Amino acid sequence: MTLDPRALRDAFGTFMTGVTVVTAHDAEGEPIGFTANSFSSVSLDPPLLLVCVANSSRNFATLTQADGFAVNILSESQKDVSNTFARPVEDRFATVSWQPGPHGSPVLADVSAWFDCAMHKTVDAGDHTILIGEVKAFEATTAPGLGYARGAYVTAAAEAEALGHGANLFVSALIERAGDVLLVDDGNGGLTLPETRVGKAGASAALETLIAGLALDADPGFIYSVYEDGAREHQHISFLCQAAAGTPARGTFTALTPSTLMDIADPAMRIMLERFASESRMGNFGVYFGNQTSGHVRKVVSGS
Ligand SMILES: Cc1cc2nc3c(=O)[nH]c(=O)nc-3n(C[C@H](O)[C@H](O)[C@H](O)COP(=O)(O)O)c2cc1C
Repeated sequence: MTLDPRALRDAFGTFMTGVTVVTAHDAEGEPIGFTANSFSSVSLDPPLLLVCVANSSRNFATLTQADGFAVNILSESQKDVSNTFARPVEDRFATVSWQPGPHGSPVLADVSAWFDCAMHKTVDAGDHTILIGEVKAFEATTAPGLGYARGAYVTAAAEAEALGHGANLFVSALIERAGDVLLVDDGNGGLTLPETRVGKAGASAALETLIAGLALDADPGFIYSVYEDGAREHQHISFLCQAAAGTPARGTFTALTPSTLMDIADPAMRIMLERFASESRMGNFGVYFGNQTSGHVRKVVSGS
């Protein structure tokens, strides 16, 4: 049976990935790099990762002979960096800030994370070559990563826009720090997540204002839950956010114990937080679509 290569490429593309820029130095010491979404972690001990480079890449010889390379995981604001490093631009590094990482390969500014690697092994794999790197140094920030699926970039902001701006749309911030979640007084003796109504500026703007009002250094990671509150006829989008150190202007970071969960008055929110508590224990997140009593969990995927 012959497979249609275009259909196969499209089928591979349904899987949402992050976007990286793989960098190294050429023999003259000049930085080189290209956009790649074939990144994967491989091993913790020893610390290994992989990325695949097309055998037709202009940088193929440099990369396969390099004694190291870096993988820069792009953040949501770096679509233009991805485009620059995917096109035949003369000097791809002219428009980005970068510096040599501890192991020597170029590390880009404002990325979600970077890994500076020594070359561990190259493996022939059809029309690509797998570069396996041993991580020598890395840094990860809380900045959400840029996603890619079906030939389009995916960001939490774009997903929120896709959900529209209904008059009864609310965003809540599920802000996590070291396993605890920020809960605020709901005004009726119970607890709730910080939430606000979405105005004309859209869901991401509402979330930004909400986080700013809490005086916390927190980044929206991804949409954790979308649900309808039948009683209040509200639609909710809950963003999972990671907070850095600091005291919030209101509320307290609280462990989601069964007794704390009992204090969440809104049943839909309580069900969502019960799920969050159990998924935190398992380290496995999905996105919940449903209403207060039924629904299903599906992986975060956005259309093109
Ligand atoms: C989102 C995205 C992901 C990509 N992933 C890869 C990849 O994993 N491996 C690869 O060889 N090319 C990948 N490409 C294509 C290269 O970035 C592109 O062909 C680039 O021009 C190669 O540059 P070079 O020939 O200068 O090395 C990707 C492009 C985009 C936009």
